[in-house]
Amino acid sequence: MSLRAELDALKATLARYDHRYYVLDDPEVPDAEYDRLMQALRDIEAAHPELVSSDSPTQRVSGSPLKAFGEVTHRVSMLSLDNAFLDADVEAFDRRVRERLETDDTIDYHCEPKLDGLAISLTYVDGRLEVGATRGDGVTGEDVTSNLRTMKSVPLRLTGDFPALVEVRGEVFMSDAGFARMNREALARGEKTFVNPRNAAAGSLRQLDPAITATRPLEAFFYGIGAVEGGALPPTHAEFVAKLRLWGLRTCPETRVARGVDGLLAYYRDIGTRRPTLGYQIDGVVYKVNAFQQQRELGFLARAPRWAIAHKFPAEEALTQVREIEWQVGRTGALTPVARLEPVFVGGVTVSNATLHNVDELTRKDVRVGDTVVIRRAGDVIPEVARVIPERRPAGAIAPLLPANCPVCGSAVKRIDGEAVARCSGGYVCLAQRKESVKHFAARRAMDVEGLGDKLVDQLVEAGLVESPADLYRLTSDTLAQLDRMGEKSATKLAKAIESSKQTTLPRFLFALGIPNVGEATALALAEHFGDLPPLRAASLEQIQAVPDVGPVVAESIRNFLGDARLAGVVDQLLELGVRWEVQARSLGEHLPLSGKTFVCTGTLPTLGRSDAEALIRKHGGKVTGSVSKKTDYVVAGADAGSKLAKAEELGIAVIGEDELKRMLSIS
Ligand code: IVH
Repeated sequence: MSLRAELDALKATLARYDHRYYVLDDPEVPDAEYDRLMQALRDIEAAHPELVSSDSPTQRVSGSPLKAFGEVTHRVSMLSLDNAFLDADVEAFDRRVRERLETDDTIDYHCEPKLDGLAISLTYVDGRLEVGATRGDGVTGEDVTSNLRTMKSVPLRLTGDFPALVEVRGEVFMSDAGFARMNREALARGEKTFVNPRNAAAGSLRQLDPAITATRPLEAFFYGIGAVEGGALPPTHAEFVAKLRLWGLRTCPETRVARGVDGLLAYYRDIGTRRPTLGYQIDGVVYKVNAFQQQRELGFLARAPRWAIAHKFPAEEALTQVREIEWQVGRTGALTPVARLEPVFVGGVTVSNATLHNVDELTRKDVRVGDTVVIRRAGDVIPEVARVIPERRPAGAIAPLLPANCPVCGSAVKRIDGEAVARCSGGYVCLAQRKESVKHFAARRAMDVEGLGDKLVDQLVEAGLVESPADLYRLTSDTLAQLDRMGEKSATKLAKAIESSKQTTLPRFLFALGIPNVGEATALALAEHFGDLPPLRAASLEQIQAVPDVGPVVAESIRNFLGDARLAGVVDQLLELGVRWEVQARSLGEHLPLSGKTFVCTGTLPTLGRSDAEALIRKHGGKVTGSVSKKTDYVVAGADAGSKLAKAEELGIAVIGEDELKRMLSIS
């Protein structure tokens, strides 16, 4: 491509992005991608000034007001901020500040989250809201007064002791919860949803009809000042922020004064770890020299103050291409589609795989090989494909299908109606399921075999030394020593760890078995309810369902597992090989409301079926028997009760109805 053609292509792409972002409030690509292209354009233009034309996006300040709104000229320009990405950038900022102030003293900074919304300016004259405007290009913004008036966090009158005229600056945003609710409602009405809270906020504030804005969950925090007439400001930014609150303006509760670079970096890390729980989106933090006198001495550069800087978090979204879509087989045979990606740096790490969760998710997002996709990695969350950029789909890209056969063992793939997951039906035949179930068995929260990592398990299973978890207990240190990169010493150590893992607890053992749908909590509930393994193995479906929080699906999954000849064989082998636990006294069972009481049900109850009533009694610790004797505590009788009722009356046993039973259980 010629340089001019490349330039034209870049300009056209950026123009399209601008339109999507500023006019439609529906960005096509992540900000980082926009910035990258813009920089590429600037670089070319810098090297070839003769190619710069007036229609280049570099020659225009983005965010020029929509013609539909009136224009507002800010009395004092709304500046932007310089960015810092690395600790070193922050150190350099602090050094520049001290050099300009000609001081070696530690500087006090006011630290604030960098809210990811849109900047606004409110002008109050004699305490009344006169004008509210967007930032626009910093000099002129859009008059959105009527829209801002609909927001609860925008006071129409200031309180307390305010200047005759004041421009206050802040950020309009949408909380994560508000955004989710709004999108949910839009979806229900069949309307389009917004990509993220910031665009939702921008789209909502720039509605031509204020009645629509009024229905949107917009919020604001205030953090800055423009023009002030007829009144004085306190000497520091921190005191000014306190003043904003006295005037009735909402401020962010996460602001703090920090001293020197160490204080700034500690604040950055603290906000960074709490970022996921703030409830609103931020893309970094802002440091402002606290003393206004020092701010005045430092002054401004062209577009940003010298006394403030934004310390940005690494971008959480980035663009890359899908090389391949593969199916991973998990411990329970579940097939998970995984996108193999052109490696990309996002959220502070390089990502080359992203889960697509399940077939439905894959279909919904319509991800295909060759697609350009937005990868998202927020906090420590597993990276995922956020969305596809349909405009960049290569011709002929085919939607991947759920394979009919397991990619690992070739067994049939089955999908139960109504379930999101498709599973390989191979069980222990499947190498992938074998590996995963052994890894799960040995995991720290399960049998806790120290030193038996995933790579080792892969080796052991691939070498045919381990087929099921029981085989672990047949390994000797001599066998282990033959593995790759395994010295005699570490083999002995591992053999010891395997041996000592035999002494465990029942909840750990039940969890380690990897029964589908049985996590740690369910394993614990089962152990507490049954006390030991034999009663659980002997229990009926109904009896298993009597365990608190165990529903029919989980109960069936447990029954199927324990009733499967091959799996039961593995359990037997484990016991024979010496896996053991201390049988605990039933702790929970004794505290249930019906513990120690024996019930007989008879007749037709008003609402509960007989087996429902019995399950309910068992679930709450009671015992149910079929015939009335002196040992019976209660007979639950309904309509048309016959001989059992007579027997109860004869023996003087309490007869209760459904209502009383429910009352005993505190349900109605
Ligand atoms: S102060 C002269 N404080 O960041 C200082 N800005 O990159 C001007 N922003 O347009 C801004 N949170 O939309 C400031 N606590 C905060 C902020 C903040 C978000 C945004 C604001 C501004 C942009 C500058």
